[in-house]
Amino acid sequence: MSNQTETVSIPTNLAKRFAAVRLFTEQICETLQAEDCCIQSMPDASPIRWHLAHTTWFFETFLLKADPSYRVFDDHYEVLFNSYYNAVGEQFPRALRGMLSRPTVAQVYDYRHKVDQCVADWFTNGRIEADPQLARVVELGLNHEQQHQELILTDVKHLFSLNPLLPTFRTGTQPSTTNVTSECDWIDFEEGQHRIGNAGEGFSYDNESPLHRVFLESFAIASRPVTSGEFLKFITDDGYSRPEYWLSEGWRQVQDRGWRHPQYWYQECGEWQEFTLAGLRLLDPSAPVAHVSYFEADAYARWAGARLPTEAEWEVAAEEVPIEGNFADSLLAAGQAIHPSSRIDEKGPLDHLFGDVWEWTASQYTAYPGYQPPPGALGEYNGKFMCNQFVLRGGSCATSSDHIRRTYRNFFPPEARWQFSGFRLAR
Ligand code: AVJ
Ligand code: FE
Repeated sequence: MSNQTETVSIPTNLAKRFAAVRLFTEQICETLQAEDCCIQSMPDASPIRWHLAHTTWFFETFLLKADPSYRVFDDHYEVLFNSYYNAVGEQFPRALRGMLSRPTVAQVYDYRHKVDQCVADWFTNGRIEADPQLARVVELGLNHEQQHQELILTDVKHLFSLNPLLPTFRTGTQPSTTNVTSECDWIDFEEGQHRIGNAGEGFSYDNESPLHRVFLESFAIASRPVTSGEFLKFITDDGYSRPEYWLSEGWRQVQDRGWRHPQYWYQECGEWQEFTLAGLRLLDPSAPVAHVSYFEADAYARWAGARLPTEAEWEVAAEEVPIEGNFADSLLAAGQAIHPSSRIDEKGPLDHLFGDVWEWTASQYTAYPGYQPPPGALGEYNGKFMCNQFVLRGGSCATSSDHIRRTYRNFFPPEARWQFSGFRLAR
């Protein structure tokens, strides 16, 4: 070993994770052209270039600017790539993110690499190791980046779905499918007191805390999510034209938006197809249904004589279930399509709990008892969105496997459909 390598401090696990997560974002975008990266297909989605810049902005704003001598890459970026942090300042209007031709995609990659280099230097000179607060910001920034990796995938899918050329994001092999024809099983839980929320080992978001007690009446939860084939029966039973199954708000959305089936489904010559990140495919009736709103999940449940589980029921049911499944990192590495799969793992009574599709729960996204958002601008990360949204659990095929936890609370407004959102039943 040379003298030089002896004096350089051993890169910490966090430094390695930083490099790996930042690289994975770029790997996801490898097959995209600059033209794909600049446009915004709807206000809920963002141009891919914006995701690439905003995740970098996060490290610049909350980590690098902690050093008063740090010189920013470009003064305009503070406003341009601020998503919603009022404590940081003004934000370029969200719905106009796709109206900008500059900075170019190449300039944004340059921005990424400059910031990456600077953070890497902070690791090598021991600055991050010396300050647990900085390490926490890096950890949050990496989890933030992983959330945007998922948004990149869902935003590209939405963008490509609007293009008559139906572009392919990746030609992926179809994972082995299983023909699910039998009804789901029901797993019973007795009434009782439980603890939910994060106990504080490892990283978690503020909204998963505090750990607290809940009392649950006895309940049963389905052994797997509702499949596309099952959802098709709801469609052919005129589920979308029978108001008795729908919440008033959902019925209004069905009328206003003309919903007749999940997003990305197409019927041609009586045959159902779906647009996927690997192109147009025959609908796999055995795979968990994806791209449904809360309202569609709720209406289906009522039609089926069941209901959606609460998030507490979901978390209690997940207690013993290993965090394994169909996730973005393993799918990409295996050259498989980023798409829910119908495989059955038979690892336990509950299948597809993690990965494949986010599962809508009946729970409004609100604060756990005693919740405190952290001080400062980062307190805006989760807490201020606790209104008019529902909790989804378990991660999807667009989530990274090391990003999800049993206590993880994703949230979206009830009409959102462009995420890989599905559901399982309870009663
Ligand atoms: C938790 C997925 C709703 O999309 O705004 C990204 C994730 N938070 N940047 C969102 C997030 C900050 C968040 N969701
Ligand atoms: Fe963000």
